[in-house]
Amino acid sequence: MTESSQQDRVLIFDTTLRDGEQSPGATMSHDEKLEIAQLLDEMGVDIIEAGFPIASIGDFEAVRDIAKLAQNATICGLARANPTDIDRAWEALRDAKSPRIHTFIGTSPTHRDITELDMERMIERIDETVTHARNLCDNVQWSPMDATRTEHDFLCRTVETAIKAGATTINIPDTVGYTAPRESAALITMLRERVPGADTVVFATHCHNDLGMATANALAAVEAGARQIECTINGLGERAGNTALEEVVMALRTRNDIMPYRTGIDTKRIMQASRMVATVSGFAVQYNKAIVGKNAFAHESGIHQDGVLKNAETFEIMKPEDIGLSSTNLVMGKHSGRAALNAKLSELGYELGANQLKDVFVRFKELADRKKEVYDEDLVALMADNSTNAAHDYIQVRHLRVVCGTESPQTAALTLVIDGAEHSAEATGDGPVDATFNAVKALYPHDVKLQLYQVHAFTEGTDAQATVSVRLEDEGTVFTGQSADTDTVVASAKAYVNALNKLLFNRNRARAGAALQSAS
Ligand code: KIV
Ligand code: ZN
Repeated sequence: MTESSQQDRVLIFDTTLRDGEQSPGATMSHDEKLEIAQLLDEMGVDIIEAGFPIASIGDFEAVRDIAKLAQNATICGLARANPTDIDRAWEALRDAKSPRIHTFIGTSPTHRDITELDMERMIERIDETVTHARNLCDNVQWSPMDATRTEHDFLCRTVETAIKAGATTINIPDTVGYTAPRESAALITMLRERVPGADTVVFATHCHNDLGMATANALAAVEAGARQIECTINGLGERAGNTALEEVVMALRTRNDIMPYRTGIDTKRIMQASRMVATVSGFAVQYNKAIVGKNAFAHESGIHQDGVLKNAETFEIMKPEDIGLSSTNLVMGKHSGRAALNAKLSELGYELGANQLKDVFVRFKELADRKKEVYDEDLVALMADNSTNAAHDYIQVRHLRVVCGTESPQTAALTLVIDGAEHSAEATGDGPVDATFNAVKALYPHDVKLQLYQVHAFTEGTDAQATVSVRLEDEGTVFTGQSADTDTVVASAKAYVNALNKLLFNRNRARAGAALQSAS
């Protein structure tokens, strides 16, 4: 079946790695992007927009490597309306099993002013650039940026030009989140009725959430004939974000009676994807966020709890299992065995090899010794803890004692194992975390920028585990470290050292590469 012949099938185009990553502060490392892409590919996303190849070397390499890795999804790269951008996108995409070039230009009056193109010159530019892209790749998506604020007659001309030049998907972006559901539907209807050749392409909807209507606008566009929804995990994206993948997918599934369209998403992977993107981007999901928020399936009031226990449908329109949450938050403890841990992790979406399970089991036991009850969220934190394999790291945290309280300065006494040898130092700082990071620097002097320090507590209680993310920047490249511990300062030290190890590994690799080049 071709994309356009699947009348009741809505394609899911995920742009977490492009539009989502554009969100200030959401920068992801190369490996993190690959990990997210792998999951999106496995969970049935039809098209993954992997980046904007001309934007940076990092973006180029991410698109190139995701293109090589994807087994099922079409891999898409973004390009402005010029041949240099389009050639660079193609260079990154060419090894994909199914590549797509996505080229765009701002068509509204404001954007025409910025690009200094009048209507006629813009039509010429669209014709030239879409033709250029189509000569490289059979699958070309074209977007009139700010479509919802573009004059209808001109929008029709631009879309007609792109279709004639060979575009196979026409995406209609609501770039500034300005439209409303009825208008979003009317725009797609108008284009499908007025533009010659409209029946030969797939129309896509790309909504931003500035007025909180991105999901409603995307679904309205589908009802009017759009067959591709552009979205991001957790609704990540610039300003108020993009349409959230989990919301449109679960809305189409739950209200299939009135919106009879299907997607190819394995909804049981939604929670895993949400947690991964939240951890990697450092953007925590708000508690009351639809579908993936911590409280989305929590029933606090007595009446609700009673009703749900008697019949889950009383207050639940979806089952927690549908998105990959286990129906029973079965509590694990120090008596739980390896098989039970493995079963629980697999229920949470983690499939581990024997060696990895062995490592995780050791850490699980350590945690269960300190924490009476180990919840699902604790296990997720444990899995997100990159320092799990610290035994193989160049620098390891051996011992930490901090003195903190009302009297400053706070002090950290830290012992690190560096390349197999123990070294200790004491340092002071503005708070225990600052003192700890200063102690790391005293033991292993280095000059990098601390770009982000973030703490999340996934479970309640004073013995809750804190998951700490640390992002270090070294000459434009970002390295993220993570660790979880019931002691926030210990988690902070391990997360910092985790990021530092990644950075050092990368420096060594670069040095080895340069040495190899000069020797050859
Ligand atoms: O919001 C927007 O207009 C975009 C385009 C590049 C498609 O993200
Ligand atoms: Zn966008």
